[in-house]
Amino acid sequence: MHIPVLKKQVLEYLNPKPNENFIDCTANGGGHTKAILEKGANVLAIELDRDIYKELSSLNLDRVIAVNDSYINLKKIAEENNFGSVSGILFDLGMSSWQLENSGRGFTFQKDEPLDMRYDLDGDLTAEQVVNSWSESELIEILEKYGEERFAKKIVKNIIKSRPIKTTFDLVKAIGGKHGKIHPATRTFQALRIAVNKELSSLEKVLPETLEVLAPGGRLVVISFHSLEDRIVKNFFKNSKTSFDILTKKPITGLLEEIKKNPRARSAKLRAGIKI
Ligand SMILES: C[S@@+](CC[C@H](N)C(=O)[O-])C[C@H]1O[C@@H](n2cnc3c(N)ncnc32)[C@H](O)[C@@H]1O
Repeated sequence: MHIPVLKKQVLEYLNPKPNENFIDCTANGGGHTKAILEKGANVLAIELDRDIYKELSSLNLDRVIAVNDSYINLKKIAEENNFGSVSGILFDLGMSSWQLENSGRGFTFQKDEPLDMRYDLDGDLTAEQVVNSWSESELIEILEKYGEERFAKKIVKNIIKSRPIKTTFDLVKAIGGKHGKIHPATRTFQALRIAVNKELSSLEKVLPETLEVLAPGGRLVVISFHSLEDRIVKNFFKNSKTSFDILTKKPITGLLEEIKKNPRARSAKLRAGIKI
């Protein structure tokens, strides 16, 4: 079960009222969606992963339109569903607990699984293709850029030597290294997941679209989980000062109490703005 992060803060910044329209761009099992519904609002719930979407739509939630698509098509999805006068848009980025622990798609280095890492099962790029067919320089680039991995060159040399790499454990073995504070495969796995799902470019593309979808006075709330995402969100708000009043001078983080119950909350950062 995925515990929604910063739920109280999401409600505070979205401020949903009865009959208003909200878009949950990363709906998952509907954690935040349900919290918004409880305030009497309507939700357009977008979820890219078809297995998760099936679960979500089988709940038949009242006042919810569930859509299996990528948020990069935000404007089109809102138009196609006649979902106008939008009072708020939420992004809770990255993967869910189910994807990490139970999807069997190789998101975790703690289980031996095929190297897939796609949220979109119709997507044409898997992590296996990336590790086995991308060039040395391409792999170094993603490990450095998306994984902020200091040992990218050494790890990529090891990966190339160990090809073909089929499973997560093959990859962990290829990466090698000592177990320090974090597992030596942590940053490589993050980099691959971001590359496979084009996470950063999708976020960069969709943020300006929120301005076209939100009604004046509408709120944008984004929760990110690593510095690369947070930087994109921060810069977007900074460069949109004429369009948004920023509600969070500094990003909002989880309180100790929440972090103890939900480790995902440890790295969560929430930023919010109101469309002028
Ligand atoms: C952190 S979870 C969201 C959890 C949710 N807020 C809740 O409370 O249950 C992120 C979800 O976003 C989905 N996702 C990732 N990229 C997406 C995209 N481009 N479009 C739509 N959904 C996406 C993932 O499949 C995952 O289910």
